[in-house]
Amino acid sequence: MNSVRCHVLVCTGGGCVASGSLDVSAALTEAIEKKGLAGECKVVETGCLGPCAAGPVAVVHPDGVFYEKLKPEDAEEIVEEHLLKGRIVERLVHKAPATGEIVPSMREISFFRGQEKIVLRNCGVIDPSRIEEYIARDGYQALANVLTAMKPEEVIDIVKRSGLRGRGGAGFPTGMKWEFCRKAVGDTKYVLCNADEGDPGAFMDRSVLEGDPHSVIEAMAIAGYAIGSSQGYIYVRAEYPLAIERLGKALEQAREYGLLGADIMGSGFNFDLEIRKGSGAFVCGEETALMTSIEGKRGEPRPRPPFPAQSGLWEKPSLLNNVETYANIPVIILKGPEWYASFGTEKSKGTKVFALAGAVNNTGLVEVPMGITLEKIVYDIGGGVPDGKDFKAAQIGGPSGGCIPAWHLDVPLDYESVTELGAIMGSGGLIIMDEDTCMVDMARFFLEFVQDESCGKCPPCRIGTKRMLEIVTRICQGQGEEGDVERLITLGNLIKDTALCGLGQTAPNPVLSTIRHFRHEYEAHIKDKYCPSMVCKRLCPAPCQRSCPAGVDAPSYNALTALGRFNEALEVIRQDNPFPSVCGRICSRPCEASCQLGETDDPVAIRSLKRFVADFERNRWKPAVQPVETTRTEKIAVIGAGPAGLTAARDLRLQGYPVTVFESTTRPGGMLRWALSDFRLPPDVIDRETQLIVDTGIDLRLGVTVGKDITIDELRRQGYQAILIATGAHKLVRPDTPGADGTRPCPNALDFLKEVKQGKCTRMSGDVLVVGCTYAAFDAARTAIRLGCSSCGLVYPRDKDQLPFEAAEVQAAVEEGVTLYCLHEPMEVLRVDGKVTGLKCVQCEPQPADQTGRTRTAPKTAAEVVLPAETILFAGAQEPDLVVLNGGPDVQRNAWNMVVVDPATLATSTPGIFAAGDVTTGGATVIEAIAAGQKAAVTAHRFLRGIEQREPYRLIKPRRRVDSAEAGEGFDNFKRPQEAVRPASERAHDFREADVTFSEMLAVCEAKRCLHCDLD
Ligand SMILES: Cc1cc2nc3c(=O)[nH]c(=O)nc-3n(C[C@H](O)[C@H](O)[C@H](O)COP(=O)(O)OP(=O)(O)OC[C@H]3O[C@@H](n4cnc5c(N)ncnc54)[C@H](O)[C@@H]3O)c2cc1C
Ligand SMILES: Cc1cc2nc3c(=O)[nH]c(=O)nc-3n(C[C@H](O)[C@H](O)[C@H](O)COP(=O)(O)O)c2cc1C
Ligand code: SF4
Ligand code: SF4
Ligand code: FES
Repeated sequence: MNSVRCHVLVCTGGGCVASGSLDVSAALTEAIEKKGLAGECKVVETGCLGPCAAGPVAVVHPDGVFYEKLKPEDAEEIVEEHLLKGRIVERLVHKAPATGEIVPSMREISFFRGQEKIVLRNCGVIDPSRIEEYIARDGYQALANVLTAMKPEEVIDIVKRSGLRGRGGAGFPTGMKWEFCRKAVGDTKYVLCNADEGDPGAFMDRSVLEGDPHSVIEAMAIAGYAIGSSQGYIYVRAEYPLAIERLGKALEQAREYGLLGADIMGSGFNFDLEIRKGSGAFVCGEETALMTSIEGKRGEPRPRPPFPAQSGLWEKPSLLNNVETYANIPVIILKGPEWYASFGTEKSKGTKVFALAGAVNNTGLVEVPMGITLEKIVYDIGGGVPDGKDFKAAQIGGPSGGCIPAWHLDVPLDYESVTELGAIMGSGGLIIMDEDTCMVDMARFFLEFVQDESCGKCPPCRIGTKRMLEIVTRICQGQGEEGDVERLITLGNLIKDTALCGLGQTAPNPVLSTIRHFRHEYEAHIKDKYCPSMVCKRLCPAPCQRSCPAGVDAPSYNALTALGRFNEALEVIRQDNPFPSVCGRICSRPCEASCQLGETDDPVAIRSLKRFVADFERNRWKPAVQPVETTRTEKIAVIGAGPAGLTAARDLRLQGYPVTVFESTTRPGGMLRWALSDFRLPPDVIDRETQLIVDTGIDLRLGVTVGKDITIDELRRQGYQAILIATGAHKLVRPDTPGADGTRPCPNALDFLKEVKQGKCTRMSGDVLVVGCTYAAFDAARTAIRLGCSSCGLVYPRDKDQLPFEAAEVQAAVEEGVTLYCLHEPMEVLRVDGKVTGLKCVQCEPQPADQTGRTRTAPKTAAEVVLPAETILFAGAQEPDLVVLNGGPDVQRNAWNMVVVDPATLATSTPGIFAAGDVTTGGATVIEAIAAGQKAAVTAHRFLRGIEQREPYRLIKPRRRVDSAEAGEGFDNFKRPQEAVRPASERAHDFREADVTFSEMLAVCEAKRCLHCDLD
């Protein structure tokens, strides 16, 4: 006789069958036969193994190698390589989601580790269509023990001592229920199995019936013996045809083997089972509705008492348990109640099967000991949240369950702990949600489901859930009203208290539990008309607003500009950005890069429109800013009067805090004032915008260098309760080109620009080279031209199209006389008698893109050139100069000397000290500095008020100052106007502003091109 040396267990659970596992199984059998291995290797079609989303799956034993996402075409390779040659087919085995590392052994896969399979002990192991396989794994042994050696009371006692609680949702002690039924008076009693599984996200009952039907049949026979019943019914929804088919076959086999029917195992005990198909109404899972449905009537709940144990099916005492509850029974009998009770917690014994779904890497069925933390399920078994996103919440207990938020990830999953958080264990549906989930929309979705499934018998559920749904829908559509949240709470609690059955009593749960944990999201929808997760379409900002780091409401100001209401447009901008005139000139305009119109035409000139409205005011009057009243007592110190520091200072002033800004130089403005060239940003623009900010009542102390004149620790002793470091990145990383010593005639470009701004350098002669591609490099090159140098070249090792500047800016520099030496890598500063004579460079050539898509360049051979120069300005990366930290405190910084902050809060490693802008990022952009200042103001306020910083901070709040539809249609054939620049021949010789603002007419016409994507 041939002995089988290996088994290929192919999952034929519902999920895998749907993805084609029967074809895989057939292909494997065929391939085995073709290779002449039929006597040695056997394909076994099993029930669900668990990780259904990876299906079709298979396990090769005895090696325990797990294959996933199989196709029939893979069969020959598995047979040839693995079964014949003993080599694992690596491309088909599991890969760890985080690392991509292959993990062939089933035991090593994180999804299976940490699981404890009691209910699912046979699923994925035996062929459910063969009773012999169940018997071979001690199947029907428990029934035999019970019938031959135990009194019914002893059986009930074992179940009671095991601590098993009903897995259908309510967690009622199973042994106690059996005892009530046993004691109930009546000759006819029924044993019923609830396999309705109405939670659309759960499929554990289906999987047990499909993968191990005999465990339920055996348990029901034991229950029949225990309560004194000879007839049972299994109520399965008709939507589970595979489960019904396998269950039907199992019932036949059990009868054939004398394990069902009359005189089971010669014991004199008679018991038989029938299947009843339900039509798939959620309410029919409720016990009284289920019984009326079995009776052939419309599945409607009825009041209790009498409870089914007294008067159930056909008014006879009836025992109803869930599939999973039953599947535990044979093992409890065989291994003893103490063994079973050793799993789980004090009040929740054993294991629980969860259907893990949603935003988690490993989805499927998992069986874990009761009391395991949610964190272990999500991160260890589930493999974490895909795409590195944050876990936000888990919906547990099905559509009428509740949510558990991220800050309760450590909750042990047992009946009591879950209930304490306002959720329910339910049947075990566990949907993981990531940061992109809108909790209000999620609650609406589940409420819609339960509302739809209400049987309509009692008004609180029928009408109340409808009213709740109307309110939540309104909120999601941007029509939420003040008081809606309170209305939902009152209505929800009323429905819970007065509905007839469990459906109505739990229907408000998704809404009530999301309000409990995510009330701020409801408020954002209602008050700010904003969906923080960008899900509710009517409450999502337009793409331009979304991509502006400071969340400036471009659609509104475009609309106001189109209507000629320029001052109001400016007001809209100033709400989020106190530097409209600056940003209207030099912003890197990420908004335009994502402008919807850009997909079919030129994007709206959002930046120029900003400049236009700011200039419109600037050319006419200066608004009188009333100092803001100081209403709070906590003193705040801001160090650095650049855009980050001043934005934070203004926002905190507007909240009524006393704010002092310490600035080491003599004027506010930071880099804008001290480095940016006048021809790009006129000084009066900076004067005006910084003054408007200071006028809110900021105490500006100029000429004070923190870390030198006073330390942060001293500021704290002086009573400053929150301190913001916004000192920028004013040092240039020293170039490694030999001969570049950072002193004249090779100074760094930033020092050069600062000298020019301060009038310390007014003329240049000879040939100048600027090395680098930063803002400072471009400004230095254009400045050198204006100072009269003979020639100026920009040396850059990459290709022209890789310059990180807009084409128009590069063109402006070239028109003014800057020569681009792209694909030139500097090698050495050449000197003769100490005098600089030139820069030796090697020419480079572009290389194909690497794996990350980044293109690189490499030096060509024998391609050295010398570029003549008397002055060479180096413009490398900027890094902070952290004088500010001298004398303490010990704030954490990284290898590039940047202050390390929590990106969500901008808090440093020292409580109460925040940092924002270039000091945390190195040289970045003005709008990023403004956005960081805005964020720091919010989080410093939360810190001072003791508000938990757990809500994700978002800058974007749609304001809709105007219904942008009012702006009307644009003009046909009107094209985006070119931003005008003074002629190069003129502008290259002076420091007056190079660019020219739009005319009023152009601004209005351009603003009218906006598509108003903020409208639904
Ligand atoms: C030449 C140049 C051109 C640029 N062009 C553009 C552009 O076109 N578009 C764009 O978006 N961005 C541009 N940038 C970048 C932009 O200016 C900066 O990203 C932005 O200014 C950073 O703002 P911040 O508030 O973080 O720092 P900063 O603007 O650097 O302000 C920091 C302030 O802190 C003060 N300070 C430092 N140490 C202390 C201390 N110990 N005590 C007290 N005060 C202190 C400094 O004096 C300074 O005033 C340019 C930068 C440079 C250098
Ligand atoms: C609306 C509603 C739907 C239900 N659906 C199911 C279900 O699909 N499966 C189930 O076992 N129990 C369901 N129940 C719970 C049952 O009413 C009953 O409590 C359970 O089947 C008892 O078995 P257990 O003690 O083993 O949990 C539902 C309850 C309600 C109120
Ligand atoms: S609570 Fe809802 S589902 Fe239950 S009986 Fe009333 S109307 Fe029907
Ligand atoms: S078309 Fe208007 S609203 Fe739409 S992204 Fe562009 S600027 Fe914003
Ligand atoms: S159905 Fe195959 S793993 Fe679940």
